[in-house]
Amino acid sequence: MKYMGSKRAMLGNGLGEALGRSLDGANRVLDLFTGSAAVAWYVAERFRKEVHAGDLQQYSTVIAASVIERTSPISDFDWLDRWMTHAEAAVMGDPRWRDIQELQDCLHRHPVTHSAASARAIDFDDKWPISKAYGGYYFSPWQSMWLDALRKNLPDVADQRNVALAALIQSASRCAASPGHTAQPFKPNETAGRFLIEAWQRNLPEMVRVRVSEIAPRTAFKKGRAYCLNAHQLAETARPNDLVFLDPPYSGVHYSRFYHVLESVARGEVGEVSGSGRYPSKDERPTSEYSMLSTSKHAFDDLLAILARQKANVIVTFPAGKASNGLSGDDVRAIAADHFRIQEAIVTSRFSTMGGDLKHRAARQDADELILTLSSRAG
Ligand SMILES: C[S@@+](CC[C@H](N)C(=O)[O-])C[C@H]1O[C@@H](n2cnc3c(N)ncnc32)[C@H](O)[C@@H]1O
Repeated sequence: MKYMGSKRAMLGNGLGEALGRSLDGANRVLDLFTGSAAVAWYVAERFRKEVHAGDLQQYSTVIAASVIERTSPISDFDWLDRWMTHAEAAVMGDPRWRDIQELQDCLHRHPVTHSAASARAIDFDDKWPISKAYGGYYFSPWQSMWLDALRKNLPDVADQRNVALAALIQSASRCAASPGHTAQPFKPNETAGRFLIEAWQRNLPEMVRVRVSEIAPRTAFKKGRAYCLNAHQLAETARPNDLVFLDPPYSGVHYSRFYHVLESVARGEVGEVSGSGRYPSKDERPTSEYSMLSTSKHAFDDLLAILARQKANVIVTFPAGKASNGLSGDDVRAIAADHFRIQEAIVTSRFSTMGGDLKHRAARQDADELILTLSSRAG
């Protein structure tokens, strides 16, 4: 999944080792800003520890739950065929389906302006909420109707439902016609038009099948739990000797602005949207005190105070330099020292290799990430 700040690369780049060193004596593991769930999955799949993962965003919670809440693999896929068949019946039952399919088949033949205009002229009602909000923008109408139909016909059995919805969210992320995240769709113009069409041609239901087949065999050693919750509330549940992983936002722009499309898929409903990014209204998008200059420092200090009181041990990652939410690696280190013993501080790259594009010093520093291992003073 394309995810801003995903720790997937860093797991093979210092973070995995730091976690491994701290996990031995740990009770449970809490990942309070789970995002793409890369760290929650990594720990749950490899270590005999109960993982509890949380995020303000529903879609992150769904992705985390699809693995950390399941201790047996899913190997029978009859439900997947049933799910696809129900969704297919739903799209085919719409009187516009034949035209929509034709539009999809001709995407490579018509000028992008023509395809976009035809796609945007389709008037979807509330029965097709994802199509109404995003069809003709982030998705072709064919893709968005599949998204709606699959979202509406999710299986009822909890484990299957989690896997199915996680696969749907990840597929929406991969199909979305936008650069890296879903803050704004590609425009149907000369420069971005070919990227728009390329994305609109992706076979969404096929991708969902592939994602299901990749997630279903993955399991946690111990059954954990995912929560759509503010990190501070989940931190209150930490116990002595729990290992808490913190990867707080470093962006001065709320994550919910970048990932509203995935959130809408997770929720299965979208209110009115507006602006070039087709954003739902502000009160439908979670805001974070970590993404505001005036509150980020205080929020982090508060969180560490809670975790110190709960006698947990902590691993924090944060950009080594100054981040756009006003916090810097030095601030994070200073705040951490107020509450914990700093057992280890390492700086590594946020990317898996230090490739050619990172030759320049400034770019290198931008990619540097601090990993702090903090132990409870009570320990
Ligand atoms: C840097 S990202 C985490 C990336 C994650 N570690 C990964 O590997 O994908 C920060 C996450 O924190 C979430 N977030 C922001 N404020 C939060 C809060 N107060 N409580 C819980 N989650 C929050 C955002 O939604 C975002 O997913």
